[in-house]
Amino acid sequence: MRIVHYPHPALRHRSQPVRCVDKQLHLQIGEMKELMYKAKGLGLAAPQVALPFQLLVMNVTGDAGKPECEEVFLNPGIVERKGSVEDEEGCLSFPGLYQKIRRAKTLKVQAYNLKGELVEKAVSDLEARAWQHEIDHLNGVLFIDNMGPIARLASRGSVKSFEREFRKAQEKGDFPADVEIEKILAALEGQT
Ligand code: CO
Repeated sequence: MRIVHYPHPALRHRSQPVRCVDKQLHLQIGEMKELMYKAKGLGLAAPQVALPFQLLVMNVTGDAGKPECEEVFLNPGIVERKGSVEDEEGCLSFPGLYQKIRRAKTLKVQAYNLKGELVEKAVSDLEARAWQHEIDHLNGVLFIDNMGPIARLASRGSVKSFEREFRKAQEKGDFPADVEIEKILAALEGQT
């Protein structure tokens, strides 16, 4: 498992709900947490490791030494949004790119936990930002899509270089061609 960078097709793929919490899912979640901490992220969505499922891991402290702040959300959704605030945001699938993004300030969110219980909570500020960012990933939406015109223009060169890097990696055989990746994602979806 590895974190894939834009424009890996998994990042534009709409995720399927998780239907079964089995041993394999637990292993995948463990690996995702490890990758998130290693990359110094606050959250990681399954599409970022090329898994087409509605699954997020989060620790808004970003501190692996605070496992009590670690959270896993299955089939999450935002049920209410309030307010609006602009702040700097990055994404592990665009390493090094940071831009100001406008997001709702507070949210009411729902998700299933690993015990299969539906949990609802109110989140605000940084945590609300992380939620909106990660939920977008599950819908194939990326933070570059949420940039205003200035941030978008400022990111153009960086986005182009991510595109060049990924195509180069495909040419080298580090990643299959896009159509092959789509087939792999469809096969993974069929397993649940
Ligand atoms: Co991201």
